[in-house]
Amino acid sequence: MVNHEIKVAFEDYSSVGELSGDDQELCAAAVSAMENSHSPYSKFKVGAALRLQSGKIVIGSNQENVAFPSGLCAERVALFHWGATYPDDQIQTIAVTAHTDDFELLKPVTPCGSCLQVLAEYEKKQNSPIRVILYCINGPVWITSGIESFLPFLFFEDRLIPNA
Ligand code: THU
Repeated sequence: MVNHEIKVAFEDYSSVGELSGDDQELCAAAVSAMENSHSPYSKFKVGAALRLQSGKIVIGSNQENVAFPSGLCAERVALFHWGATYPDDQIQTIAVTAHTDDFELLKPVTPCGSCLQVLAEYEKKQNSPIRVILYCINGPVWITSGIESFLPFLFFEDRLIPNA
């Protein structure tokens, strides 16, 4: 028997002001995206913004439904919009933020497992890592250099991909 240990690295900033201009702009786009969050059930607004290689920014927000499982997270709304419209313009970075009037968020919101799985697939498809900025408004900001930091045991099987 062998014990293995996996370490996860991430950058921890005390505020968004410490980020580059581009990253601050992306965080601001994630905040704006929350305006169109449809979250009457959870009252938890989430915004996501993707920066593409061309510099274009694609946004998404969580969209809920009275049939609860029909709703979708902000990250996947943005990612599927990207996949449907700009699939050849690589995703460099995704910024995610959240807000609720019900309680104070003191640390960043992290993407759910389904969103991470979708991020991982697009990362593999474009063969280039996707940086993740987790932006807590008025709080710390965490940045990872790719999806592997979240899912070191990611399910992926090349042989399931046709013509791979
Ligand atoms: N949500 C997101 O949009 N992204 C996340 O990373 C976590 C959760 C949404 C789903 C639901 O509309 C609400 O937040 C509460 O779970």
